[in-house]
Amino acid sequence: MTGYTVVTGAASGMGRAIAEALAKDGERLVLIDIDPLVHELSLPAGGDAIITRVADISDAESIRSILDRVNSEHGPTLKLVNNAAMMRNKPLAELSLDDWKKLLDVNLTGAFILSQAVGRHMRAAGDGAIVHIGSVAAAFGRNGGGAYSAAKAGIVGLSNTICVEWGAYGIRSNVVHPGLMRTPLSEAFYRDTHVNAQRRAQISLGRPGVGEDVAQVVRFLLSDGGRYMSGAEITVDGGFSRMALKNYPVPKI
Ligand SMILES: NC(=O)c1ccc[n+]([C@@H]2O[C@H](COP(=O)([O-])OP(=O)(O)OC[C@H]3O[C@@H](n4cnc5c(N)ncnc54)[C@H](O)[C@@H]3O)[C@@H](O)[C@H]2O)c1
Repeated sequence: MTGYTVVTGAASGMGRAIAEALAKDGERLVLIDIDPLVHELSLPAGGDAIITRVADISDAESIRSILDRVNSEHGPTLKLVNNAAMMRNKPLAELSLDDWKKLLDVNLTGAFILSQAVGRHMRAAGDGAIVHIGSVAAAFGRNGGGAYSAAKAGIVGLSNTICVEWGAYGIRSNVVHPGLMRTPLSEAFYRDTHVNAQRRAQISLGRPGVGEDVAQVVRFLLSDGGRYMSGAEITVDGGFSRMALKNYPVPKI
């Protein structure tokens, strides 16, 4: 069955690159972002092939109502990319409870809200594929990362539960973990030439990733090529997370 693919956080960075790659394939899209810029993306499609909506993914009521309307007025939503997220950097010792809750609300609860709202329609159709954008930070703590790593680790648990509970409906759920990416979310880090050089030195392929690098893997996981994949975690980081032993001190042999 053909249907719509929902992409959250499509106004910027990776979400935008994912929307562009899927639109090039002729996929019909529902693009959701809190930023009205989502209305201004220029994608190669016409008619009701690209639907854009401004909403906060942590607002369950508006997300449910948007998706129910799309399903009744345009057609079923059978694929989902849970991509939208925010960052709020602060050392744990200084992190306020409000900041902790806000980040979990958007980065983890938002993905749950979307999965449940789209999952209802997927289960009715007996078909569906979900890709959650995680992060290498799900497995590794980060200095000053606040609640970010905890939320991304939670995304893995969410995906695995969907895999177990909804597989019987033909629904697949997988996580893609980007590494050091250059997007508006992280652009400030790369403008510092020292940080930029240090980061490049820690990436096996010698450069930070760009949205298109992740978009191609998401595209595959949503496609028939990924039809037997569920509950998987795929790291797309140019080898960054395998570099821990590169400068490991060894005695002369
Ligand atoms: N940039 C990196 O280095 C990096 C690394 C690993 C993982 N990631 C993950 O990749 C994904 C995309 O990040 P990006 O780098 O493209 O960031 P980005 O800031 O460029 O884009 C994120 C988008 O999400 C939207 N958004 C934020 N909060 C929202 C909300 N409450 N409701 C709806 N939309 C909201 C923003 O408006 C923005 O358009 C995120 O899940 C992020 O955690 C990023």
